Amino acid sequence: MVNWDDFLAPYKQAVEELKVKLKGMRTQFERENTHSPIEFVTGRVKPVASILDKAASKNIPLERIDQEIQDIAGLRMMCQFVDDIMKVVQLLRQRNDFEIVEERDYISHKKASGYRSYHVVIRYPVQTIHGEKKILVEIQIRTLAMNFWATIEHSLNYKYKGQFPEDIRLRLKRAAEAAFLLDEEMSKIRFEIQEAQRVFLRKLEGQEE
Ligand code: GTP
Ligand code: MG
Repeated sequence: MVNWDDFLAPYKQAVEELKVKLKGMRTQFERENTHSPIEFVTGRVKPVASILDKAASKNIPLERIDQEIQDIAGLRMMCQFVDDIMKVVQLLRQRNDFEIVEERDYISHKKASGYRSYHVVIRYPVQTIHGEKKILVEIQIRTLAMNFWATIEHSLNYKYKGQFPEDIRLRLKRAAEAAFLLDEEMSKIRFEIQEAQRVFLRKLEGQEE
């Protein structure tokens, strides 16, 4: 028998701490008035039912889920541009408050579904009243377009339990292609977009004074 409240407590703490830390990176870019490669950050702890589903589907015994399920604690960092993703990864590699255990590049190697994202799995030390506990956390780094596609695909996946009708599967593939093209177009006009954002910011700052 697993006491889920006890088991999940360090994961909840890790997600809360990492949300503060990763959002703090965005704040630091804002303070320096430079383009932030991070647009926004979200985090969640996997619901118990999903943990049990995943353990069952991958034949993972309950006593090993903390080592074999890497995304019980999950963070997402959204970027405006594809080029920002590697800047964020570099920033994560430089940090001293956790250790990177694995990186998975589904951007150079997109999945058959059309899924694109960069995954970094870290071992994060949580300080508890009983000492330090290191847990695995999955950080997914992706553009807004990649996130839009993945979110929609995920809800459809839920509805169809992974068994998409052929027409839906094809549509999703085309939608993934459209998201890829959107990212490409945005990269090409990146300079113009950033100039516009700077002008807008200066205007806002002027209004505040
Ligand atoms: P799971 O896919 O989580 O069972 O484990 P894995 O070891 O194969 O890791 P992987 O890197 O493939 O996936 C980890 C996470 O990435 C998933 O939990 C999802 O959040 C996300 N992901 C991976 N593939 C897809 C996909 O095809 N569509 C969507 N929407 N998300 C995906
Ligand atoms: Mg997978």
